Amino acid sequence: MNSKILSLGTLIAGMAFLGACNNSANKTTSNTKMKDSITYGTLPPDSAFEKTIDGKQVHLYTLKNKNGAIMTMTNFGGRVVNLLVPDSAGKMIDVSVGLGSVDAYIKSTERYYGATIGRYGNRIAKGHFTLEGKQYTLATNNAPNTLHGGKKGYQDVVWDAKKLNDQTLELTYLSKDMEEGFPGNLHIKVTYTLTDDNAMKVDYEATTDKTTVVNLTNHAYFNLNGEGSGTILNHLVQFKASSYTPVDSTLIPTGKIEPVKGTPFDFTTPTTIGARINDDNIQLKNGKGYDHNFVLDKHDLSIPIAIVKGDKTGIVMEIYTEEPGLQFYSGNFMQSRNEMKYGEKDDYRNAFAMETQHYPDSPNQPQFPSTVLKPGQTYKTTSIYKFKTK
Ligand code: BGC
Repeated sequence: MNSKILSLGTLIAGMAFLGACNNSANKTTSNTKMKDSITYGTLPPDSAFEKTIDGKQVHLYTLKNKNGAIMTMTNFGGRVVNLLVPDSAGKMIDVSVGLGSVDAYIKSTERYYGATIGRYGNRIAKGHFTLEGKQYTLATNNAPNTLHGGKKGYQDVVWDAKKLNDQTLELTYLSKDMEEGFPGNLHIKVTYTLTDDNAMKVDYEATTDKTTVVNLTNHAYFNLNGEGSGTILNHLVQFKASSYTPVDSTLIPTGKIEPVKGTPFDFTTPTTIGARINDDNIQLKNGKGYDHNFVLDKHDLSIPIAIVKGDKTGIVMEIYTEEPGLQFYSGNFMQSRNEMKYGEKDDYRNAFAMETQHYPDSPNQPQFPSTVLKPGQTYKTTSIYKFKTK
């Protein structure tokens, strides 16, 4: 047995212990802030998502698997809205923190809830990069940098959607040459599947007619205790990442790849999100918490590179990916400014995101794995978020 398998075994044993300590947890207390009119777990009505935007029809799509897990998505931004999976008692828990209508998504001060992100996930320093000798300029929508593709990233466009079967939604989008300043007509297909082993599988594909940069991801906000259940700080996390990319105060990687050992970024053994988040550490200060790219030891779908457990429900999320990085964002910018699906506010650190992707600012950091896509090549990558209770 190798050390990777051993450490996963340790995690599972630790989690079993944690589960035993939390059997009494239930949703009653945590849901008290929620609107009386909405029962927890109720899906929003389809009508709340019917709207024409930019001449295209928006809908809510519902996917179901054999076990009764349910995922809803809207083609406005390619967003995951609900994701209902069973907890250790068999109760369905909505682990996706999202909004209840297309209008709520349009109005939200946080633009990325559940969305499919592109053309470039995370930041590009000062909105510039050079490709084949030519400089490109992007909107600096997260001053002084570009975040998640610019002013109108893929979270705000209407994707063409096709339900392939009860469990699969195919989203396509043509991101035109120079849209948001990126070169090349990019034909994108992102296929979301709710598999029978309770996983959200995301298959990304793209081709271009000019050399460009591409870094697609999904920005689901999770709370494995259920949306509206409060802080995520007691979730237990383990990453297969022995290094990470430190950032400057504007969240741009410094260019170094540093070992996590001996730092609050060491999640190689199961640790709660909150255990060290307030440590006196310059990187935690720069990120206002965790908002960093973890450099994955392996990225070939053979092992989970992240294992997260909700302390109240016992729900475990395993992430598998072909991407070299994982952006872990601990909800540091959540400010109770939006009303979520069950009526509660998006309070500080009540959700987290784990975005599988290439490293931030790769177009300006030649030592990082390349995000360049050329005509004739196909960008193809898969990430899986699997939900279990053990
Ligand atoms: C970024 C955060 C940002 C968040 C927006 C994350 O990917 O790293 O800095 O606030 O997305 O939701």
